[in-house]
Amino acid sequence: MAKELKSPEGYARYAASYDQGEKYWDSFEQRNLNPYIAEAKGKKVLDAGAGTGRIAIRLQDAGAQVTALDLSPEMLARLKRKKHAVEAVLGDIEAMPFDDDSFDMVFSSLAMVHLKHVDRFLEECYRVLKDGGKAVVVNVHYRKPKILTDKSGKYTIACYNHFPRHVVEAAEKLAFSIEKEIMVYEESTIWISQILVLKK
Ligand SMILES: C[S@@+](CC[C@H](N)C(=O)[O-])C[C@H]1O[C@@H](n2cnc3c(N)ncnc32)[C@H](O)[C@@H]1O
Repeated sequence: MAKELKSPEGYARYAASYDQGEKYWDSFEQRNLNPYIAEAKGKKVLDAGAGTGRIAIRLQDAGAQVTALDLSPEMLARLKRKKHAVEAVLGDIEAMPFDDDSFDMVFSSLAMVHLKHVDRFLEECYRVLKDGGKAVVVNVHYRKPKILTDKSGKYTIACYNHFPRHVVEAAEKLAFSIEKEIMVYEESTIWISQILVLKK
């Protein structure tokens, strides 16, 4: 029986092998982030829940000035080892340690699924974005918790699926405008991710 862990404990254990699943993580986006990563060139960008830097490093390589925020020191330690110029900041995406109007763009992939509610996170994205700035968020749909194994045994990391409609409504309540909504499907019927581009 796999034990369910909260994110900090779960990612402390998962950090060492997280990067081995890169292709699996990419499959939730299916390259739909590429135009927005290109758009980030020359911009001040936050990657919220950046983990080991899968997206942060792509943003950096595209010419953005990137800050990576995550609550897992172990995940950020992996990012730092990659010797990129991404600034790593330890902190909570529901209480971001940044001033209002700090960033031109906020990216967040595969992190919102670990939050019980999306409202506080979206509010923080809105607050730290400059007027006219964009948030690009990936809301993934896990049908079953991913069972992970290490030398201490089997475990899962707590996840909360968020209905796409609820995320859109929460964003609109904050006065974000929905620039784009992309739904990614598996076997053409089941949604596996919702990619939202939100404009402040
Ligand atoms: C599945 S990983 C995604 C990492 C990276 N964004 C990617 O796409 O590969 C989820 C990350 O969200 C982080 N996370 C979860 N809840 C968080 C919170 N409240 N504040 C900051 N980071 C959080 C975890 O520590 C973990 O690194």
